[in-house]
Amino acid sequence: MTPVQDTPPTNPLRDPQDRRLPRIAGPCGLVLFGVTGDLSRKKLMPAVYDLANRGLLPPGFSLVGFARRDWAHQDFAQVVHDAVKQHARTPFREETWKQLAEGFRFVSGSFDDDDAFERLRRTVGDLDEARGTSGNHAFYLSIPPGAFPTVIGKLKEHGLAQPAGASWRRVVIEKPFGHDLASARQLNAVVSDVFSPESVFRIDHYLGKETVQNILAFRFANAMFEPVWNSNYVDHVQITMAEDIGIGGRAAYYDGIGAARDVIQNHLLQLMALIAMEDPASFDARSLRLEKQKVLAAVRVADRLDLASARGQYSAGWQGGEKVIGYLDEPDISRPSRTETYAALRLDIENRRWAGVPFYLRTGKRLGRRVTEVAVSFKRAPHLPFAATATEDLGHNAVVMRIQPDEGVTLRFGAKVPGTAMELRDVNMDFAYGGAFVESSPEAYERLILDVLLGDPPLFPRHEEVELSWQILDPVMSWWAEHGRPDHYPAGSWGPDSAEQMLARDGRTWRRP
Ligand code: BG6
Repeated sequence: MTPVQDTPPTNPLRDPQDRRLPRIAGPCGLVLFGVTGDLSRKKLMPAVYDLANRGLLPPGFSLVGFARRDWAHQDFAQVVHDAVKQHARTPFREETWKQLAEGFRFVSGSFDDDDAFERLRRTVGDLDEARGTSGNHAFYLSIPPGAFPTVIGKLKEHGLAQPAGASWRRVVIEKPFGHDLASARQLNAVVSDVFSPESVFRIDHYLGKETVQNILAFRFANAMFEPVWNSNYVDHVQITMAEDIGIGGRAAYYDGIGAARDVIQNHLLQLMALIAMEDPASFDARSLRLEKQKVLAAVRVADRLDLASARGQYSAGWQGGEKVIGYLDEPDISRPSRTETYAALRLDIENRRWAGVPFYLRTGKRLGRRVTEVAVSFKRAPHLPFAATATEDLGHNAVVMRIQPDEGVTLRFGAKVPGTAMELRDVNMDFAYGGAFVESSPEAYERLILDVLLGDPPLFPRHEEVELSWQILDPVMSWWAEHGRPDHYPAGSWGPDSAEQMLARDGRTWRRP
């Protein structure tokens, strides 16, 4: 994407529209809250290293860790080192590491500790002097959502949120952004009291994925798909995010949140918006977000949620030849938990393009296989001039965007089976990233962290989108809360029977990716 920026480019000599030049961040630093968490170790620290390794960070780049641990700078450096060694995408290069590690600092303290924030202010000031970060700092809040207001308040009180002169201060907020519409609004009020809208970067890491950005390229760079991308031709759309993992050690976060809040509210609704939106005038943040917003505003949740939704919780089962425990037996789950680990939902988009085309969204943990895809299923040809027996095996034409792990796009259509008779069967035409490109895809967090440092906002949802998404989900969550427990499904299966029945009632079946 070629964003025209909401905010002025950080480096006036760099034309952000010129894609022949690498996008390199100007002088800056990143302050990471929540350095002991899983996300920091597995994704954020490795992404910072990968950016450095690709030469996309400025020479004086600094990474400040903030946590309650009683660590010296070296302890923090060791933690980053281990995380990088284990999870970085690009090879470990001593030279990159040495240069990056010179910019590491650690500030020890709790989120409400004024002395610690004072130390943070001094650290950041020292870095401006010593490493030329020029007052440009992003604060990445990879912390429990309950701590957002405290940290944001402390940043303000200690003068960390206010940029001086031409410098910038930005805040990066990890999901979940609230747990319903009311709490999201409250949080937005807290954030906007301290940071201006163009300084707030709400993370939905799906938008950082290459294959998700490719939805826009696929739809808007080509002439042949857009004419059929509407209710005249499309029968329905299925958006699937299936995971084979359970909740692992994340009970404290996941229990009480569940599948719908964890991923439908953000990743799946964002995918839906990209699939359904009108073409934006350009890919600048304002146009792109506005088009997504219009789709979300046009979504109608069915009145009969008993017919248009399903939820489940995994019980013990087999996965990849291994016996796995059920959700209620996972460590630290409060029994009897009603948290859903599987959620499916039918949504309708009430506009001219999509009226009458259901969008089916589903996600679950401990399903048969890890796969995320969007399948656009087309109506049958109005007339088939073949014997009925010749078309028995003919399904619907489909465009399947394979988001992960087997990244690519599949077109499914009917073809003649070789032989003397006219017999038809579905075949696939495939585009696979591995086969088409020599470049490997950066991790979503590499792209997103770089965009934060560049002040490039298109890939970050605005607060309107977040609130509209909660507006869609809130009635579902309330209905579920009032109507019993989730159904059970064995680990390794494709979810509860109720999800199959939900589609069967509409005369359709879920894809088995
Ligand atoms: C996160 C969810 O946002 O996305 C996790 O909180 C989920 O529950 C993860 O496992 C999946 O991300 P990815 O990139 O592996 O599909």
